[in-house]
Amino acid sequence: MLRLLPWKTRLAVDLGTASCHISVQEAGLVVREPTVVAFEGDRRRPIAFGAEAKQMLDREVSDVEVVRPLEGGVVADFDAAVVLMRHLIHEALGHRPLLAPTVVTGLPTRGTQVENRALVNVLRAAGAGEVVTVPRALAAAIGAGLPMDQPECRLIIDMGAGSTDIAVISGGMLAAGETIHYGGNDLDEAIRRYVHRRYRISIGSARAEDVKIMAGALRPEMVGEEVRLSDVSDDNGAGAEKLDGIAELMRGALKPAAAEALWIIERLPEAQMEEIAQADSLLTGGCAQLRGITELLSEELALRVTAAPDPLSCTILGLEAIANDLDALSLDGRRFTR
Ligand SMILES: Nc1ncnc2c1ncn2[C@@H]1O[C@H](COP(=O)(O)OP(=O)(O)OP(=O)(O)O)[C@@H](O)[C@H]1O
Ligand SMILES: [Mg+2]
Repeated sequence: MLRLLPWKTRLAVDLGTASCHISVQEAGLVVREPTVVAFEGDRRRPIAFGAEAKQMLDREVSDVEVVRPLEGGVVADFDAAVVLMRHLIHEALGHRPLLAPTVVTGLPTRGTQVENRALVNVLRAAGAGEVVTVPRALAAAIGAGLPMDQPECRLIIDMGAGSTDIAVISGGMLAAGETIHYGGNDLDEAIRRYVHRRYRISIGSARAEDVKIMAGALRPEMVGEEVRLSDVSDDNGAGAEKLDGIAELMRGALKPAAAEALWIIERLPEAQMEEIAQADSLLTGGCAQLRGITELLSEELALRVTAAPDPLSCTILGLEAIANDLDALSLDGRRFTR
């Protein structure tokens, strides 16, 4: 006879382009790993996950393939995503035997059916039972502490590595929202090309991200420390560089996201626009940590934009709050009243 396992648990999962977070009911956040997996050989035997696999990026090892399963916030390599999620869910549950757990997860605020189904199917194939979905911007707003019981409209922008969700939230519900497949990775790519054009040095995407975090800024006076562009920089005639053009470059690279937010705001009814202008608009996601981004968005949108504390954790904290209080979520997953 099948022995019934004594417990069934609920997980919150934020599967992002750059990193994956998992919270377990009552235990809280237990997994925070880069969304990267490494395979060996033609048969794709997984050999490293998360941080360990990320270290293998940009390093060419024969017979090893290092994969980022998500691109632009959507599943780009289904099988790799399943392998990674299966491993991380097991890790989150402490490798205990389990009944297929209920998983609460975020979807692009405006994703296509195909994109949404792929994310849900990854989780199912990785061992999830029921999958409850909510728009990512709603989860980020809850995690950032935006009150869900107030009718006044608030703007939230969640800018991650591969996508940016822009939404207007009112009374715990999405009043408007959009997703663009554009984020921090696109800044890294712009930096990579700039370094090549200007210094004739080829750097990989991981190095470009380091440069962005260490030296990047959206205003010249905020540009950070000097960076070594490459370990062999002397051979290339370039030592540690203060990248003076980087602020201008990054401002240009951020234009599409700012333009999209403006497009949404300008199409709101006037009363909603006024409500948004009354309170701070919130920026979440890793890009909220870019030097000068709140100033840039405040200028471009003619609003007061502030970064949420701990912006990298807002989405998972929101999903965790929902997982702990599923009765407060509407059936379509688009309204959370608590
Ligand atoms: N201190 C920092 N300064 C600037 N950028 C940062 C900093 N820390 C992280 N980032 C950037 O934030 C991005 C990752 O953010 P986040 O973890 O929110 O993305 P994600 O949720 O995995 O992706 P997405 O939601 O787009 O699928 C990366 O582009 C990373 O380079
Ligand atoms: Mg995200």
